[in-house]
Amino acid sequence: MSTTNHFTSSWHTQDPRWTAVDTYTLSHLHPSTHPTSAALNFALENSNKNGLPDISTPPTFGKFLALQTIFGKVQNFLEVGTLGGYSCIWIALLNPAIHITTVEVNPHNFKVAQENIEHAGVAGRVEVILGGGLDVLQQLRSEVDAGTRPRFGMTFIDADKLNNWNYFDLAVSMSLQGAQVYVDNVVFGGTLVDEKYQDGDGVIGARKVIEEAGKDGRMEACVVQIVGEKAWDGWLVGVVL
Ligand code: DHB
Ligand code: MG
Repeated sequence: MSTTNHFTSSWHTQDPRWTAVDTYTLSHLHPSTHPTSAALNFALENSNKNGLPDISTPPTFGKFLALQTIFGKVQNFLEVGTLGGYSCIWIALLNPAIHITTVEVNPHNFKVAQENIEHAGVAGRVEVILGGGLDVLQQLRSEVDAGTRPRFGMTFIDADKLNNWNYFDLAVSMSLQGAQVYVDNVVFGGTLVDEKYQDGDGVIGARKVIEEAGKDGRMEACVVQIVGEKAWDGWLVGVVL
């Protein structure tokens, strides 16, 4: 499942032991012979060939999200930031009952994602919407309020980091009770709490969503730190009460 990483950001720290653990565990828990592996690899290779940045969800987290949707019997999943559709493909292939709504602002990414999703055979269950995240989420919210769109059972936010809190707030307002809302990349190699990085968009957006979530009575939330083949990072995960 592994592809070559092309990381350049200053916050990236990698330890060969983290990568070795991912390689070993995936070789047993998601080997290349798994029925989903060819479509997932196609998505990564086609995204790479088309110049998309190599920042898609690591395979372990794609699978983790997919397993969470099965565990939670999630019927409607919302994603902000489709990129090449890699996490959608994980979820749609492992959970044949799910419907995914995913939002992408970049027309080139949108086109590549559609190719990858069609190639995986899940286009009938993955609705890719081209548009700005805030505009699209506000539209989805009005549909949910009007009763023409079901509430979401799980959300994954992985887009322009400065708006993390705005996406989170809208997602919570469209969620079922008990839904999980994830925000990717809030730890960023520890820059979250490193004085040298406090003026970066990623850190500003991460701190805002953490601080606001902590004051928000609609949910309980925590941050899970992760190491792996991509870097030291982590998610904020909230559960809607
Ligand atoms: C990076 C990783 C991500 O998951 C993301 O959403 C944005 C950037 C990165 O590794 O730089
Ligand atoms: Mg991310």
